[in-house]
Amino acid sequence: MVDVFLDSRLHDHIREHDWRTMNVRSVMDDYSGERLVVLHHCPAEKIDFEFLQTVTLPQTWEMKKLVITALLAKIDAGDKNHPIVKQVYEAGFASNAARYNKFINQLRILAEISNTMLDRLLGGLVVSERQIVCRFSETRMENLHYDLDSNCDDHEAFRLYINLDATPRIWAVSYPVSDLIAQGGRRIIDGIPEDLKSEVKLERLTGRAFGGWNQRATERKSPRHMIFFDPGDVWIVDGRSVSHQVLLGQRVLSVYARIPIAGNEGKIRSFRERLAEAFTRAASVPVGAETAQVGYYTPQEITASPNLKTDWTDVFGGTCTGMVRRFDDHGLVESGDKLSKTS
Ligand SMILES: [Fe+2]
Repeated sequence: MVDVFLDSRLHDHIREHDWRTMNVRSVMDDYSGERLVVLHHCPAEKIDFEFLQTVTLPQTWEMKKLVITALLAKIDAGDKNHPIVKQVYEAGFASNAARYNKFINQLRILAEISNTMLDRLLGGLVVSERQIVCRFSETRMENLHYDLDSNCDDHEAFRLYINLDATPRIWAVSYPVSDLIAQGGRRIIDGIPEDLKSEVKLERLTGRAFGGWNQRATERKSPRHMIFFDPGDVWIVDGRSVSHQVLLGQRVLSVYARIPIAGNEGKIRSFRERLAEAFTRAASVPVGAETAQVGYYTPQEITASPNLKTDWTDVFGGTCTGMVRRFDDHGLVESGDKLSKTS
């Protein structure tokens, strides 16, 4: 069951289908129509949620996105000394072979389930790459953003998630990108050349609308539907097309498929086309008549992002220090002695 707490300033762009009876075309129309789609009754019986709940991998950048397919390939090739294999075995399982082997077996099951779902949902499309990733570490309080995929003009991106944790995964979603641009009008597209690559346009739109990564501390203007995905819930969403932020999540499976435009002509409406249409609509909304309720940050107002790769362990780990950590637009504030003095 998924709980959605709706924000009345935003239209309801969440849809649901039942795996057992769904019309795949209708699901994919919702997906490419910039909806977040929940799929009920997916074939996930073989997932041992109780066991996976006992697994915690180190809070490191490498473990943030553990590519199952790559890990299994290294294990199957007997590469026990590969740094990632060693990190999982030693830091994740304290070299406990029985638990480690059970985990690897679950990863094989997750890969099998992912492939079954991709086969059905993307049947009839040419797919050039599949990536199955799990996270057994914590993600806490991202800023609202669109996913930036490099060189995304020549392909579409498909993303599916399963909450593997025993607690809800908490997201917020805001404007679909076409709505943001069309409703943000000339003010949101000002100075963004139409011939830029889509991901560069998207990066500028993200900053203008929601600020930089650090502004997660203070950005409160944008409307948000709050979503609680329960254990075992499955959903698909194109993160390039629907702005989103993870507020809190622990264990999750995320599946990605790359769908090249070449070979799929006439079957999909490309992201590039959708952006171009939205830019045309935006041009007819003069500055002052825009209705998207976002920050419209100037470049000077967008604070620099931290280096997520190097800062990940400190900023996204270290959460059980017994101290209060404070964040502002520049990131983690140096902690001083803020304990109240008692007389
Ligand atoms: Fe994202």
